[in-house]
Amino acid sequence: MRTRIRKAVFPVGGLGTRFLPVTRSLPKEMLPVVDTPLIQYAIDEARAAGIEEFIFVTGRGKSAIEDHFDRCLELENVLSTRGKAREMKAIEREVPQPGHAVFTRQQRPLGLGHAVWCARNLVGDEPFAVMLPDDLIMAETPCLEQMTQAYGSIGGNMVAVMEVSPVETSRYGILCPGNTQGRLVEGLTIIEKPRPENAPSNLAAIGRYILEPRIFHHLHKLRPGAGGELQLTDGISRMVGESRLHGFRFSGRRFDCGDKIGYFEANIAYALARHDLAEDARRVLASFSTERRQAPFRAIDGAESQDVNRATGS
Ligand code: UTP
Repeated sequence: MRTRIRKAVFPVGGLGTRFLPVTRSLPKEMLPVVDTPLIQYAIDEARAAGIEEFIFVTGRGKSAIEDHFDRCLELENVLSTRGKAREMKAIEREVPQPGHAVFTRQQRPLGLGHAVWCARNLVGDEPFAVMLPDDLIMAETPCLEQMTQAYGSIGGNMVAVMEVSPVETSRYGILCPGNTQGRLVEGLTIIEKPRPENAPSNLAAIGRYILEPRIFHHLHKLRPGAGGELQLTDGISRMVGESRLHGFRFSGRRFDCGDKIGYFEANIAYALARHDLAEDARRVLASFSTERRQAPFRAIDGAESQDVNRATGS
C-alpha cells in the first residue's frame, strides 16, 4: 500500500503584485471570497483529503495568515456572552489542533520552486501535497481528495491539469502528454510558460500537486527559469525518468483568484452557491445587467483608483 498523504505545503510567500494596492498590507491569500479567506478554502480542501499537518511557507507581511489560524480569546468571549453559537462554531472550525500548523519563512520571494524547497525539513521523507490558495476549485469532491484517491493506485508525482485556450499557454506549466487512462494523463515532461507555438499541449498545471520527497534534491539544484524565478515545474521535469509523472484532469471549476477577473468570478460563483445569499446575489446581478444599458457609472481605471488610495494615504 502507498504512503498516505498526511502533509500539505501552502506556499504563501509571493508578493501578489497583480493585486496591488491591496497586497501592500494584506496577504493575497487573506482576500475573502464572499466571507471566507482564500487560505481557509485551501485548508478545508486539505482536511477533506485527510491532511493532518499544514505547512505554511510565508514571507514578510504575511502574519495575518498565522493570526487567522490562532485562537482569539477576546472574540470567543464576546461571541459566547452574546450567545452567537453559529459564529462561534465557524471560528472554532478554523483553528488547527495545537502543533499541526507550522510556519516557516521564505526570506526572499525567489519563485514557487524555492518556496516549496523552504519546507524540506518540515516535510521530511514522505510524499506530500502542495496547494496554492489562489487557485480556488469548486467541486463536488474536493480536488485534492480526487487526487489522493487516484494517487493511491499510481504514486509518483502528480499535478492537477486543465485545458486552457492555446493562447494562454505562456501563463502556465504545460504538460507534454503521453498515454491517457481515465482522468490520468502520463506526463513525458512539463514545460513552464511555453509560447503557444512551442507548447506541447494545452494541458495546464494548476495549483494542486502531490510530490515525492526526492523533489527537494532537484529543487536544491534549480537555476532561475521562466520569469527569472525558481520554478517548481522545472524541478518536477528533472524527475522524469526516475519517477513517474501524471497529470490529473480534476472534475470541478477552477477560479484564478490571483487575477482580478478570476477573483471577481469566484465571488459571484460562491455567492450564487450559498443558500443564504443566492437569491439576493441573483437580484443584484440582474440589476447590473439592466443598468449597464443606462451606463450609470463613471468609468474609473485601475491607475486612477490607485491614485485615490495614495491621496487618502490608505
Ligand atoms: P504567483 O505566481 O501568483 O505569484 O504565485 P505572486 O507573487 O503570489 O503574485 P503576482 O503574480 O505577483 O500577482 C503562486 C503561489 O505561489 C506563491 C504565492 O504566494 C502563491 O500562493 N509564491 C510565489 C511563493 O510562496 N513564493 C514565491 O516566491 C512566489
